[in-house]
Amino acid sequence: MPKDFSALSGFSRRDGALYCEELNLRELAQRFGTPLYVYSHQALKTALENWMRGIAGTNHRVFYAMKANSNLALLKFFHDSGTGFDIVSRGELQRALMAGAKGNDIVYSGVGKSREDIRAALRADIGCFNVESIPELDRINEVALEEKRMAPVSVRVNPDVDAKTHPYISTGLKNNKFGVSYDQTVALYQRAATLPGIRISGIDMHIGSQITELEPFVHAADKIFDIVDALAQNGIMLDHLDFGGGLGVRYTDETPPSAETLVKAVSRKAAERGFADLPIYFEPGRSLVARAGILLTTVEYLKPTEAKNFMIVDAAMNDMVRPTLYQAQMPLVNCTQRDAANLWDVVGPVCETGDFLARSIELAAQPGDVLAMTGAGAYGMSMASNYNSRGRAAEVLVSGSPAAAKRSKISWLWKTRFLRTHLFNKQFFDVHFP
Ligand code: LLP
Repeated sequence: MPKDFSALSGFSRRDGALYCEELNLRELAQRFGTPLYVYSHQALKTALENWMRGIAGTNHRVFYAMKANSNLALLKFFHDSGTGFDIVSRGELQRALMAGAKGNDIVYSGVGKSREDIRAALRADIGCFNVESIPELDRINEVALEEKRMAPVSVRVNPDVDAKTHPYISTGLKNNKFGVSYDQTVALYQRAATLPGIRISGIDMHIGSQITELEPFVHAADKIFDIVDALAQNGIMLDHLDFGGGLGVRYTDETPPSAETLVKAVSRKAAERGFADLPIYFEPGRSLVARAGILLTTVEYLKPTEAKNFMIVDAAMNDMVRPTLYQAQMPLVNCTQRDAANLWDVVGPVCETGDFLARSIELAAQPGDVLAMTGAGAYGMSMASNYNSRGRAAEVLVSGSPAAAKRSKISWLWKTRFLRTHLFNKQFFDVHFP
C-alpha cells in the first residue's frame, strides 16, 4: 500500500478495509460492480479549498478545466462552489450549461474551434474565447458578425517555457501546436483591435500538465507580463490574465507546490510587475479532481509465466489509459489486506500488449480481490473509450461525514449499470442526467 493512502483526503484504511468516507470500498464494488470509479465529496472539497485559500481576498477566479473529469455531478459541485469552467468543445459547453453555468462563467480554449463551436459559444454568451491562431481569430470575427455579436477574446501566447513534464502534455514550447508565437503576439493584438466583431478582453497561456515545480509557472508569468506591458504601450488594455492550469499532484512520490503557494507566487509576480489589480484566471483540472477519485477493479485470474507474473483484472486501458499512454505510475492497493506480495504486471482484458495498469509492482492479491487505483479522478473516466466494444465503468460520488455515518449516501451519477450495458455508444452529453 502506498505510504500516503491514508493521506488521501476522503479515503482511509480501517481494520484492514479500505473506505471512501464512511463507505467500505469492497462493499461498493459488490453493490455496483467493477470497474467502478468512486469519487469522494470530501476530497473534492479539500482540493478546491486549497485553490480558494489562494485566491481569497483577490479578484482572481478559478475556472475548472472539465476535460479532467466532466461528470455532471462533479460539475454541479464545482458550479455550486463558485468556480467557472474552462471548456474545449461544444460537448463541454453543453455540460457546463447543464451544470448551471452562465456564459460569463465559461472560457473556451483549444486550437481547432469549428464554426459551429464558435456559433454555439457566442449564443451562450461565453466570457472569453482563448484564440490560438490568426485564422481562428478571423473565423471568430466572421461568425460574430453573422451573429451580430462582439466576441470577447484573449490571445493564447506560447511563452516557449519548458514545463519539465511528459512530452505529450507539455504545451508551452515553441514546437508544440498550442498558442501564438511569442514574437507575433503584439501584432496579432493589433490586428484584433481592427476587427469589428472582436472585443479584446485578456491574454492567456497554458504551459503543460502535471507540472511539479513552481519555477516554470513564474518564469512564464514574467514573460507574459512583458507582453502586457508592450500592449499597454500600444494602447491595448486588458481586463484579465488567464494563467491556464497544469499544477501537478502527488501520485507516488512527487512533491508539487500547493495551489495556494502557486497562486500566491503568481500574484506576487503580478504585483512586482505593477499589475496587482489585474484579475487572474486559473484553469486547474487535475489538481482539483485527481486525488478525489479511485478506480476499483476485480482480480479475474493470476497467470504466472516463465518470464513474468500477470495479474489479470477487469479494468483495462479503455477505462484508464494513463499508464500506457504516458507511462504514468498510479498506485494499486488491495482492498483486502494480504501478506506474501509478489511482483506482478497488472493487465486488463483488452487485446493489446500495451493494455496494462501497472508493471512490475509488488502486490499480494487473489482472484476475486478488489484493487483500488489511487489518483484516478483526473483523466480517467474522461479519457475512457469503448475500445474492444467494452462498456464503460460506472461512477459513484460518495458523500458521508463521520458525524453522519449512518446517513452516508451514494449519489448515482449519470451512468448506471443499465446505461453502461445499453447506451455505451451514445455521445455522453446525450445521456439523461437524473
Ligand atoms: N487549460 C488548458 C488550456 C489545458 O489544455 C489544460 C489541460 C488545462 C487547462 C488543465 O490542465 P491540468 O490542470 O489538468 O493539468 N490527459 C493528460 C493531461 C492532458 C492535459 C491537457 N490540457 C494526462 O492524463 O496526464
